[in-house]
Amino acid sequence: MNSLASFLIFCTLLGTEALSLLRHQGLKEPEGHIDRKYLPAPKWFEQKLDHFNPADTRTWKQKYYVNSTFYKPGGPVFLQIGGEGPASPKWMVQGEWIEFAKRYNAYCIQIEHRFYGDSHPTKNVSVENLRYLTSEQALRDLANFRVKMSSLLKMNKAKWVSFGGSYSGALSAWFRAKYPHLVHAAVASSAPLFAKVNFYEYLEVVAASLNSINPQCDERISLASQKFKAMLAKKSDRQLLKKMFKLCADIDMSKNDDVSNLLESLAGNFEGIVQYNKDNRHFEGGSQITIDLLCKLMTGGKNTSENALENYAKVNSLLLLDANQTCLDFSYKSVIKELQDVSWKAAVGGRQWIYQTCNEFGWYQTSDSPKQPFGSGFGLKFSAKICSDVFGVFNLKDLEANVNETNTNYGARNLKATRIVFPNGSIDPWHAVGLTKDLNQDAPAIFIQGTAHCANMYPPSKKDPPQLTKARQKIGDLLEKWLAQDA
Ligand SMILES: *[C@@H]1O[C@H](CO)[C@@H](O)[C@H](O)[C@H]1NC(C)=O
Ligand SMILES: *[C@@H]1O[C@H](CO)[C@@H](O)[C@H](O)[C@H]1NC(C)=O
Ligand SMILES: *[C@@H]1O[C@H](CO)[C@@H](O)[C@H](O)[C@H]1NC(C)=O
Ligand SMILES: *[C@@H]1O[C@H](CO)[C@@H](O)[C@H](O)[C@H]1NC(C)=O
Ligand SMILES: *[C@@H]1O[C@H](CO)[C@@H](O)[C@H](O)[C@H]1NC(C)=O
Ligand SMILES: *[C@@H]1O[C@H](CO)[C@@H](O)[C@H](O)[C@H]1NC(C)=O
Repeated sequence: MNSLASFLIFCTLLGTEALSLLRHQGLKEPEGHIDRKYLPAPKWFEQKLDHFNPADTRTWKQKYYVNSTFYKPGGPVFLQIGGEGPASPKWMVQGEWIEFAKRYNAYCIQIEHRFYGDSHPTKNVSVENLRYLTSEQALRDLANFRVKMSSLLKMNKAKWVSFGGSYSGALSAWFRAKYPHLVHAAVASSAPLFAKVNFYEYLEVVAASLNSINPQCDERISLASQKFKAMLAKKSDRQLLKKMFKLCADIDMSKNDDVSNLLESLAGNFEGIVQYNKDNRHFEGGSQITIDLLCKLMTGGKNTSENALENYAKVNSLLLLDANQTCLDFSYKSVIKELQDVSWKAAVGGRQWIYQTCNEFGWYQTSDSPKQPFGSGFGLKFSAKICSDVFGVFNLKDLEANVNETNTNYGARNLKATRIVFPNGSIDPWHAVGLTKDLNQDAPAIFIQGTAHCANMYPPSKKDPPQLTKARQKIGDLLEKWLAQDA
């Protein structure tokens, strides 16, 4: 399977397949294995295809899950918002929000995002059909669901609280901000509120996070990637690189996109680990490899570029092994071919998410900043090329205008709302487009030192750092306070 590290965002509510696009995420069975038969069965809700065109009456079925075990009359409804992957029933029995549900007698619902998982609004994911894949339509799905379900469940008085992490964290905040009469409060974990075409800051935070573990780590990666680049110039050296890095094919320097894809994959080895470092998502099958381990490998031995390159290769081998891959596939053509497939069977989430980035958000994790150690081999042009190769007509100016539109629509980091909490992790690269300070007294940011993307959402564990435990407590206390307030 191929990787396209620059589109990395996945946080939670992921299924097996959504990860396959991201080589370093190789999915394993969870440690604390949950027997499927104890998980709730899916339910289906009828939605309009196009909420913004009254003349279009087409509908489709949206998947959701319910856990009503903790609900007591008078309790709230907790809505876990699905993001850019399949909804997972595992989240219905564990996670931070389930702990809160126990505490506040909540009725728990998780809803899948349109166009992901089994929520198929159209026959396929052709460009024509993907027109209906927008965050605005998704929010309207939530609003419609909220209204109809309240009456169906005869819980018209219940207060709804939305939860989400990463993209769905942003949706959670936007849901509260846009529909304050429908959502009483929101938890928006690691939410990227600020749309941005060239998200070069991502790798800057990766570098800073590696440095916070070991100041030598970043320096050695820098040495290794310079050496790698220098060796690309000579045929015999390229053969050597092929062997060292277990590449599936020879490096053909006339194929620029393959080279970019290769360099990006090597950076991706670190990106995926930093983004998810020690996040306790083992129950979902996350990798056990940590930044500490990668930096230990990277900084072993003498401070020479030869040694650094060897260490870089060791990191690569470890991640190939973790993903159960025998060689590193860096063929650009084969990634694009996979992403061009419009059938639901092929489109396990990668195509849809890339569409959203090419249309609404950008967020390309490019190598355009000098303040990162991975070289400059995969700049904005490369990401833009992916958009045009996968979806046809595309130009950066249009995306830039759309991204501005997204920020105008939602308010970016100036959104006006109350009763939203924004937990963020200090080493999560996404915090660079998240909230850096409290919005207002009633919409605080919670900073969790040393944790990664969405760490607070995962089930509590004895191994959790005290600041993570404290952050969960603070979120719980805020919910308590907010639930006591009138709508
Ligand atoms: C709800 O979650 C709890 C806690 O994990 C679990 O014991 C229970 O079986 C779940 N209920 C349903 C209906 O899935
Ligand atoms: C995709 O679905 C549309 C109907 O929504 C259909 O007209 C079109 O032919 C399909 N495209 C492919 C390539 O199957
Ligand atoms: C390691 O080597 C690089 C390049 O040769 C040099 O710039 C750097 O200062 C060295 N670091 C240490 C800690 O010796
Ligand atoms: C790795 O792949 C092989 C061959 O497809 C499979 O038999 C094996 O179960 C996989 N192992 C893991 C840990 O996923
Ligand atoms: C988008 O917004 C930025 C910052 O305000 C501005 O510099 C840029 O010209 C805008 N681009 C387009 C295409 O509207
Ligand atoms: C996270 O939130 C805290 C506020 O609790 C803030 O001090 C910090 O700057 C934020 N960090 C980032 C990177 O957004």
